[in-house]
Amino acid sequence: MRVLVLTGAGISAESGLPTFRDADGLWEGHDPTAVATPEAYAADPDLVHRFYDERRAALARVEPNAAHRALARLDQHLGDDLLVVTQNIDDLHERAGSRHVLHMHGRLRSAWCTACDERSHWTGSLGDRPPCPACGRPYLRPDVVWFGEVPHGMEQIERALWAADLFVSVGTSGVVYPAAAFVQYAAAQGTRTLELNLDASDTSDDFTESRRGPATSLVPAWVDELLGG
Ligand code: OAD
Repeated sequence: MRVLVLTGAGISAESGLPTFRDADGLWEGHDPTAVATPEAYAADPDLVHRFYDERRAALARVEPNAAHRALARLDQHLGDDLLVVTQNIDDLHERAGSRHVLHMHGRLRSAWCTACDERSHWTGSLGDRPPCPACGRPYLRPDVVWFGEVPHGMEQIERALWAADLFVSVGTSGVVYPAAAFVQYAAAQGTRTLELNLDASDTSDDFTESRRGPATSLVPAWVDELLGG
């Protein structure tokens, strides 16, 4: 059985990382579009660096939860037949042990040099304009996909969606495209689709089945079901 799992901020919420769209619509006090766009970076790079430097520092204080670990367990069983496509820029899937993870919106622990195009593993801050390890120039930016930029790995994702026998979405509000359209793509091919989310999302009605609850309960239960059945 080939499975594609799409994850969003909801899977990391119980690890202590806030989701993007809280009740007030703000992400850590910011409108997401005010810090996550190329225009915001051009207008106020210090603000954007400070924002992502804080998010990167916060990663050191959190741990993967039972939902990340359950997907890592599934990875052990399915190997190449599982692909986790995450919109998250944290590294909690990898730290839980998942090996087949695609970060369609980039990664916090990576810096991208706009001068030489190299990407470097990064755990510190970028706001102080450190030199690029590859070319030495001070043009590193967060290696994340901002609104208006093209997500990573779309061809691989399309192939995996096409090949999947089951599409599962975990902890995402279904408002940001193209990820929000994956369920329609899967459904159009007759693929079974399952949503695991705390609240109803914008795309809940498109799923074959939708379950409500916290990811740390729903994901381990679903993995048990899949591996036991
Ligand atoms: P959102 O903040 O939009 O949605 C999080 C979803 O997780 C909501 O539907 C919640 O109901 C659900 N949720 C919250 N806590 C949960 C829990 N403990 N268990 C299960 N579900 C829970 O986050 P995303 O959908 O990931 O993009 O946002 C998508 C994209 O919009 C992000 O990748 C980012 C953002 O702006 C970019 O920055 C380009």
